[in-house]
Amino acid sequence: MKVLILGVNGFIGSHLVDRIMQDTDWEVYGLDLGTHKVSDHLTNPRFHFVEGDVTISKEWIEYHIKKCDVVLPLVAIATPKVYVTDPLRVFELDFEENLRVVRQCVKYKKRVVFPSTSEVYGMCPDAEFDEYESPLVTGPIPMNRWIYSTSKQLLDRVIWAYGFQQGLKFTLFRPFNWMGPKLDSLNTAKEGSSRLVTQFSWNLFNGEPLQLVDRGTARRCFIDVADAMDGLMSILRNEGGKADGQIFNIGNPANDFSVREIAEQMIAIWKDHPFRIERGIPEGRMVEVGSGDFYGKGYQDVARRTPSIKRMQSTFGFDPKVSMKDSLKKAIDFFVEEHKALEKVVETEN
Ligand code: UGA
Repeated sequence: MKVLILGVNGFIGSHLVDRIMQDTDWEVYGLDLGTHKVSDHLTNPRFHFVEGDVTISKEWIEYHIKKCDVVLPLVAIATPKVYVTDPLRVFELDFEENLRVVRQCVKYKKRVVFPSTSEVYGMCPDAEFDEYESPLVTGPIPMNRWIYSTSKQLLDRVIWAYGFQQGLKFTLFRPFNWMGPKLDSLNTAKEGSSRLVTQFSWNLFNGEPLQLVDRGTARRCFIDVADAMDGLMSILRNEGGKADGQIFNIGNPANDFSVREIAEQMIAIWKDHPFRIERGIPEGRMVEVGSGDFYGKGYQDVARRTPSIKRMQSTFGFDPKVSMKDSLKKAIDFFVEEHKALEKVVETEN
């Protein structure tokens, strides 16, 4: 199988390439702005990388859609801070650029596996979010936070309609707070624009307090990226065509914690971490901050977000196993290594 991954150097793309190279004989054609997360595979003859920007490399993309069997358009801005501060960029990249790719998949009759998002459920009141039953609930227009959710939702609907009316072969998968190595970079955390686990890791390394937005009562179910990849790989394998025309949540309802509980777990891991002790970095602590101060006016939070994974379980025997604590440990260890590497660069530059 020939797989085209746009945004191959991102969090999902890079883990997917690791898995494809390790477990299959498939070929990957990948495009991204950089290579630091996929550098291990650059010499592998089954990995064909080209450096480029999806907004510019349009001919390359069209040519490779024609050439490949399945397309994963993974390029998107996925950090809430940016939804609030630069909603137009989110719309242009996440919606407009991907719409063009989807239309080319229709034109060349290629299968598209599209990353929808847990955010489409928004403030849904259901205890567990179900792909085929739950309402999708977003906030008023001045709340910029919802531009990501609604951009993704409209693309989900467009893809579904292309399947319905023109026979497009597709699968929509919905990541529910995937976490692990290579999530956001510590550089984005430095600017305060990264997602929870990276942001808290950065704060811990720098002896800064972890900021609990609106008292840290919001709940999330985090899934380790290794478990998430098991799910995504079964969708890509698509045995018996079971993934065709379907929507799947990929998450781990067992890892249901409030932001405050996650902060406490990270502080406990950090307390005994050899890197902290060796460097004499202070133990972690928490402070409370209002969402308006942290994100700006256009932010509205999701209080609870629990996936129903019944469909993944019954279709593919999906069974996520990694506990929150083990996943956090892995993520912190990775960020420690990244932090050390960053320090080396700074030393060399000086
Ligand atoms: C994320 C992002 O929108 C996307 O990456 C993605 O599509 C989706 O959810 C997903 O991965 O399922 P969210 O979970 O709100 O949204 O993003 P985080 O930045 O990880 O925030 C989680 C919670 O932690 C929020 O309640 C936020 O207010 C809180 N938070 C975040 C803090 O209390 N302190 C921080 O320093 C950062």
